[in-house]
Amino acid sequence: MPEYPELAGRVAVVTGGAGGIGRACVNAYAAQGVSVVIADRDDAAGRATLDGLPPGSKAIFVPTDVTDADSVRAMVRAAVDTFGGLDIAYNNAGVEAAGKAVADMADRDWQRVIDVNLTGVWQCMRAEIPALLARGGGSIVNTASALGQVALPLQASYVASKHGVIGLTKAAALEYSTRGIRINAICPGVVQTAMIDEVAAANPGFMADMYAKHPIGRIAAVDEIADGVLWLSSSASAFVTGSALSIDGGYSAA
Ligand SMILES: NC(=O)c1ccc[n+]([C@@H]2O[C@H](COP(=O)([O-])OP(=O)(O)OC[C@H]3O[C@@H](n4cnc5c(N)ncnc54)[C@H](O)[C@@H]3O)[C@@H](O)[C@H]2O)c1
Repeated sequence: MPEYPELAGRVAVVTGGAGGIGRACVNAYAAQGVSVVIADRDDAAGRATLDGLPPGSKAIFVPTDVTDADSVRAMVRAAVDTFGGLDIAYNNAGVEAAGKAVADMADRDWQRVIDVNLTGVWQCMRAEIPALLARGGGSIVNTASALGQVALPLQASYVASKHGVIGLTKAAALEYSTRGIRINAICPGVVQTAMIDEVAAANPGFMADMYAKHPIGRIAAVDEIADGVLWLSSSASAFVTGSALSIDGGYSAA
């Protein structure tokens, strides 16, 4: 992993920080000396992520539901109260869709995915931006997906939510680019996480199908997504805002 010495001493929140990509980013930030707020609705996994950090890491776990405005405000308050401010926000919490056709979806199938994946990112930015402005600026990275750029059948709510995250990211980037806050999205292809392992174990041929969808011939490791998130969080990407960075092995180019 590249070194970003200027990140040492900065403060970051990571939503969905207890899960696959989020946890990899928590580890990556901590390795650069960033003070990290691990924000997740999963208590046990959040505490395990915290406990798994090397001794000397500066981090706290804050139980957070990104669909709850009060909870999100408390997450930002915890960053400011514990570490003195906020410089970086990685808004990554997300859920999968139910796998139903548009005409067969129940209200909850649609609403749950939009609430977490899209409204949750807006809720987070609304709470984070004043804290970033108070520090003179910072960097926000939002997790979209390759499915924010192309579509997949039976995933309409997820596809819509992730297309929405890219639009939201671009609009917010325009609003805050002159005030020191850069706002970007990352668009991962399929990433090797525990969830993917479970699906693969239950469905012979799943991995071969996934590999075929990625022109590079494999899926991503979580650290490959974390590399992009760190770059967007650092001054190495100082001229990058309003972008949707594909880290997808060519998935969205096909
Ligand atoms: N894994 C992939 O192949 C892939 C590909 C593209 C995009 N993504 C996106 O990356 C992000 C992370 O996905 P992952 O694969 O690491 O999934 P994951 O399920 O391993 O992690 C997601 C985390 O978000 C948390 N979370 C869910 N709802 C929440 C809520 N309301 N409030 C707070 N935390 C909540 C979960 O508890 C979990 O820890 C998601 O936004 C997902 O849509 C994943």
